[in-house]
Amino acid sequence: MPQPYDEGDGPAIILLHGYPFNRSMWREQIDFLSAHGFRAVAPDLHGLGEMSDKLQLVADSEKPAPERERQAEGYRTFTTMKQMAQGVAAFMDELRIDSAVVCGLSMGSYVAFEFARLFPSRMRALVLAGARAQGPDEDEKQSREQQARRILAEGISFVADAMLPKVLAPRTLAEKPEVVSRVREMILRTDRRGAAAAQRGMAARRDYSNELSDIEATTLIIAGREDGVRKAKDAEFIRRGIRNSHLEIIDDAGHLMNMEQPEVFNRVLLGFIRKPDRDR
Ligand code: MLT
Repeated sequence: MPQPYDEGDGPAIILLHGYPFNRSMWREQIDFLSAHGFRAVAPDLHGLGEMSDKLQLVADSEKPAPERERQAEGYRTFTTMKQMAQGVAAFMDELRIDSAVVCGLSMGSYVAFEFARLFPSRMRALVLAGARAQGPDEDEKQSREQQARRILAEGISFVADAMLPKVLAPRTLAEKPEVVSRVREMILRTDRRGAAAAQRGMAARRDYSNELSDIEATTLIIAGREDGVRKAKDAEFIRRGIRNSHLEIIDDAGHLMNMEQPEVFNRVLLGFIRKPDRDR
């Protein structure tokens, strides 16, 4: 299995990346948290980054019927959020980490929700950035399937052009060319089969709206004020749903808030994870 970033000593925090990115989006957090007494771990999720050759088919019974039909037509790329969450637990086993603070951004937040459902005792606290709890509607499912097919047919460069203005705040686009080119490069390096598989997995994700009250972990929700992918109401919905939760909004940040405003993001995250479990 490819090794995740794993730096520092102390209580563990697992950082789960978004789509169509990889663990390198957490570089600033890994450096910062490991320098502040934490063990910071960021894996690549199934099919993405260095896990691009780890695409596996999930059992047929776990797939929605249309996917079974697509497979009969020869489409074989599909990764569920459950499979990704199980992969995270497997990484933790390998690294001998019993429990950790789990932090997911966007697609990583779907994986974090799934992790909370499957492995609640392994989650010391939860951080959700650029997150959404509701499941996909029919329009979203269709548009994800179209994206998946187009990526498989054409490659991923059209995704970079379309996504950058949505995932980065206007100020980042205008003033931080190094962040813009890092994000572009990250998208362009993404394996097309892994990206298509993740799109289909997100199209089949659970609706967590009615399960938020089951989450007992203390939760920090972080939103970028200029996020072009998520709305402020998505973050507020989660805050109302999870009993022990708190919302922070970062100015001049879009969907990739941890890369756009790393100092603010790191400070907010550190403030949360430093509190003793009982006071969070
Ligand atoms: C992400 O950043 O992970 C994606 O925007 C997730 C999504 O498409 O819902």
